[in-house]
Amino acid sequence: MTYKVTLEPVGIEMEVEEDETVLEAAFRQGIALMHGCKEGQCSTCKSMLIDGDIEMERYSTFALNEMEKEEGYVLLCKTIPYSDLTVELLQFDEEALKMSVPIKTCSTVVEKIESLTHDIRKLSLKIENSEQLTFHSGQFVDIYLPGEDTYRSYSMANTPSQSNRLEFMIKIFKGGKFSTLLDEKLKLGDQLTIRGPFGNCIRRDENTGDIILLGGGSGMAPLWSILNDMAEKNVKRKVTFFYGARTKNDLFYLEKFKQIASKLEDFTFIPALSESDPSDNWDGETGLITEVLERHIDPSLAKSDLEAFLCGPAPMIDASIEVLKRKGVTSDRIFFDKFVPASV
Ligand SMILES: Cc1cc2nc3c(=O)[nH]c(=O)nc-3n(C[C@H](O)[C@H](O)[C@H](O)COP(=O)(O)OP(=O)(O)OC[C@H]3O[C@@H](n4cnc5c(N)ncnc54)[C@H](O)[C@@H]3O)c2cc1C
Ligand code: FES
Repeated sequence: MTYKVTLEPVGIEMEVEEDETVLEAAFRQGIALMHGCKEGQCSTCKSMLIDGDIEMERYSTFALNEMEKEEGYVLLCKTIPYSDLTVELLQFDEEALKMSVPIKTCSTVVEKIESLTHDIRKLSLKIENSEQLTFHSGQFVDIYLPGEDTYRSYSMANTPSQSNRLEFMIKIFKGGKFSTLLDEKLKLGDQLTIRGPFGNCIRRDENTGDIILLGGGSGMAPLWSILNDMAEKNVKRKVTFFYGARTKNDLFYLEKFKQIASKLEDFTFIPALSESDPSDNWDGETGLITEVLERHIDPSLAKSDLEAFLCGPAPMIDASIEVLKRKGVTSDRIFFDKFVPASV
């Protein structure tokens, strides 16, 4: 049994198999709907059901509350059709739809594991069998836990020019499934299965306005990829990178930021410490990264074709979106990936 799903206002029609979610069917057919966690946790795929019968698999009420559900909102990553449907996309990105890349599953081997800070590791994987993964800077893949159907999403930190290697920046959570695997069990040469690429937090080649990158912790990963991709492609756009950390101990790549600045036309890196103490000897910005953003962003910027890319913890992203909107940046120019925890 298959059902037809019509996506408005873009007028795209697609088929969904029995027991398949609308988002999974879209991936299968190369339709890049807006998404983040794919697990009912982040609300990026929230849309309005105009017509048809559905059931929703388990999701977080942070992503869709009871009132929204009653009003007809659905999360496409959890929506199983029981009839033909018409769905109105609340967020859609025609550029991303054109940039969509086929999703594939690849076998990889662990090439290197390094510590970037006390709780952030760099994991490098090499794709096996001379395969390559085409992706855009800013995207992520799912890495499967060996022998399980469970995965964790991680954003690529390297650029697409190295298409048979993938690098990640991974924050270690005590007792976390993937964190424990990475810190205590994973060895060089071990195999890991990945699936992707996913995500719409992608720089559009044809846009020319200023860029704001904003991240915290391992949210550096996709932004580092975007920055290096711009340097490789000699993109001449003004970039300001706001990076939030707690203490000086949480900062890394400071030398690399100096090096990349020399390769970009107009680049400013603004790290900020939210819990700096006198022993840090820190003369840079302090406070939450959203406060720093508020202090630095000039409202006149918003009138230009400025774009913002935000990655990291969900509360930081939600607060940053509020600041950007208050300054006049419209939602269609704000791209983000919330690093929400997995549901299993
Ligand atoms: C689109 C997307 C991209 C992501 N990209 C990255 C990335 O590039 N780098 C990266 O480090 N992570 C990233 N994440 C988060 C990552 O997928 C995992 O959720 C995280 O690494 C924890 O996995 P775990 O198996 O170690 O912990 P789990 O076993 O999933 O969780 C164990 C416990 O750790 C705590 N915890 C786990 N995750 C979080 C969190 N995000 N915030 C607060 N507490 C948490 C919770 O208490 C949880 O109960 C991304 C997530 C998404 C959705
Ligand atoms: S809630 Fe659907 S992609 Fe996150």
